[in-house]
Amino acid sequence: MKLLFVLLLSRAWTLIGAQNYYQSLMDYLENRLLAIEDRMQMCHEQAHQYRTEMLDFKKLTSEAVTGLRNDHSVMFKDLEGASARADLVEREMDYVETQNSPRACANKADKVLEQEAWGLQERDVLEGDWEELQSKVSDCVEMISGFRSVKILKRIGSPKGMWTRDPTSSKVYIFNGTSGDTVYEFKSVRDFSRSPGATGSRTIHLPSDWTGPGSAVYNGYLYYINQETDTDVQVVKYDLMSGSVTDTAMLPMERHASLYTLNPETVADLAVDDEGLWLLFIPTHSEPNISLAKMDTATLDIEQIWDTRCPRDNAEAAFVVCGTVHVVYNTRLASRSRVQCVFDVNDAMVSEEAPLLYFPRRYGAHASLKYNPEEKQLYGWDDGYQIIYRLTIKKKLLALQKRKAFLFKK
Ligand SMILES: *[C@@H]1O[C@H](CO)[C@@H](O)[C@H](O)[C@H]1NC(C)=O
Ligand SMILES: *[C@@H]1O[C@H](CO)[C@@H](O)[C@H](O)[C@H]1NC(C)=O
Repeated sequence: MKLLFVLLLSRAWTLIGAQNYYQSLMDYLENRLLAIEDRMQMCHEQAHQYRTEMLDFKKLTSEAVTGLRNDHSVMFKDLEGASARADLVEREMDYVETQNSPRACANKADKVLEQEAWGLQERDVLEGDWEELQSKVSDCVEMISGFRSVKILKRIGSPKGMWTRDPTSSKVYIFNGTSGDTVYEFKSVRDFSRSPGATGSRTIHLPSDWTGPGSAVYNGYLYYINQETDTDVQVVKYDLMSGSVTDTAMLPMERHASLYTLNPETVADLAVDDEGLWLLFIPTHSEPNISLAKMDTATLDIEQIWDTRCPRDNAEAAFVVCGTVHVVYNTRLASRSRVQCVFDVNDAMVSEEAPLLYFPRRYGAHASLKYNPEEKQLYGWDDGYQIIYRLTIKKKLLALQKRKAFLFKK
């Protein structure tokens, strides 16, 4: 009896000890939040430094969440609250940075930046709640979970344009500007970054103009959007080896509709991923949301069409990874690009696991973003600079309760 009492007492002490520990942890987090919030108001110029601190703190918070979630659901709720507040402060910080130094990195632009710290490696708080299964629809079950690094390669000239790499070869293609009949082909990314301007490239003259930065290159073929004045929008398949058009197809869309409101030059956007060729488009002027079509790379036939429910308003670009459309949003006064709406045609991604992905801090807006499924990286064109974003990839979790698109609160 006495022994039992002693045991109970010691257990109670342990619990109280744990309670105290968590309380002081909460106090500590609370204090740090308050301190950061205070300083936010006082010192706008040092926003960048706070960002780093914020990132550390967010990481700490998310680690704490992971550690505590099993035993202490109440505690977990508190920490989630703290994490949400951290997000809020981070967003405020974004705003302050926008107000003060939107081009903070511009002077470093010609250097090559490697930032390994990006992509917060969000802890998988949902793990355990979801069963991990193979996707029934396709073998492709990868999703992006963050940015691993960013590399600025060059500045070719025009503020807008696009560049991309054929995932089946090492060749790189440059589309300088918003339309034209010229494309530059480089043997590799290395060749491109080493040569000044377009020297050392093969200049390709197409039989018709490409319209907007919406082209794609796949398996030695260039697919481009063409819209002459007062003609319908069509996609042209061009054989880069023989230099001839092998096919064209009309697109199911009205003329002069543009896809992303922040990049009105993009009439329609072709994207390549592990599953093939995709078309992002707007069927009519009045349609507020982006449509997606799967195209046959051989015949240009449209196999299926989806309404992504992702608005085109404030969108600057989009790309497809493993059958999941990622729409990238920004503000008119270029701020920080972020993936804020995703749509998975295979229904294999739960809305909750779709991360709100902020692009590494850069100084402008993207004219285009092209995904390369072989290298798992994005080729971006940002105010004339050619940038490569390396992505971190994780496996999709198949949802028990399926929902197609998830739009984050704006
Ligand atoms: C790209 O376009 C810009 C602006 O039109 C021009 O100044 C630049 O020379 C072009 N670069 C190449 C390599 O054609
Ligand atoms: C567009 O998508 C939103 C959800 O993001 C939805 O509420 C709205 O009904 C959609 N509009 C149309 C016309 O499909």
